[in-house]
Amino acid sequence: MKPIVILGIFVADTAYRAQRMPQMGETILGQGFVLGPGGKGSNQAVAAGKAGGDVHMITRLGDDAFAGIARDIWGKAGVKPAVKVDHESYTGAAFIFVDSNSGNNAIIVANGAAGRIAVEDIEANRALIEGAGVFVTQLEQPIAPAHHGLAIARAAGVTTILNPAPAAELSDAMLALCDYLTPNESEAELLTGLPVTNLDEAKAAAEALLRRGVGAVILTLGANGVLYHDAQQTLHVPVVSAGKVIDTTGAGDAFNGGFAVALAEGKPIAEALRFGNATAGISVTRVGAAASSPERAEIDGLLQG
Ligand code: RIB
Ligand code: NA
Repeated sequence: MKPIVILGIFVADTAYRAQRMPQMGETILGQGFVLGPGGKGSNQAVAAGKAGGDVHMITRLGDDAFAGIARDIWGKAGVKPAVKVDHESYTGAAFIFVDSNSGNNAIIVANGAAGRIAVEDIEANRALIEGAGVFVTQLEQPIAPAHHGLAIARAAGVTTILNPAPAAELSDAMLALCDYLTPNESEAELLTGLPVTNLDEAKAAAEALLRRGVGAVILTLGANGVLYHDAQQTLHVPVVSAGKVIDTTGAGDAFNGGFAVALAEGKPIAEALRFGNATAGISVTRVGAAASSPERAEIDGLLQG
């Protein structure tokens, strides 16, 4: 299996469970706190590593205690770091509010050193990207290096996945470099200017993204699973439930990581989507982002069971 190369950020997630968000100026008591590994790129790398991929992570870290959390989880997941230690910045952190009733979340990310990832970081890893089977990135680091990484991957015939999160406007030139674009509803709305509140609207938004040059759109729809749309076919793949939803933080990342592994293994698209959904389906039954992604045996067990 060819390597999966992921460009993105690591941050330390500081997750607070509470009944509701505080109002401005208000203090409320929460129900719990967890410090753990986060950042969409790193979460996707960890999910892919645990799911059985040969994964490399391109990023920047600071030289501080939170960087140790990254090295620790990558070590456990078998993720190989392609890291620049940036002594002029810090390893980022995220404030995560988790609704203790629904498991839904709201997040503020301070990306720190990873916010300083530049085109030079991509050039430093050019050979790694060119030798990959799948290249994956997101939008938590600056867009220019993401665009550059996608361009190198495309020129080398590497399969590309862009998870356009958090939502941002993107050029047609960048979208045309994406074999797979994996927005959620609000990201698809921002990219297209169209509402995405049901499956028909999701398909119309996906169609609009294909017209802008994307190869295939995978709209992640939370409890409604995913909608896949390319020039030939549309597939609605429901969630693969593994139990009660406790914490959806990083569910999209688990999907992207699992999906990347399935692609790298050459699975047909319908199977790859189900594999991604199973990876996410297990992750939401546990607290945390990267820490909640499943091992390969659990994914295979859920899909066979
Ligand atoms: O997708 C979830 C992730 O988004 C969290 O781990 C948080 O760090 C933010 O980057
Ligand atoms: Na989780």
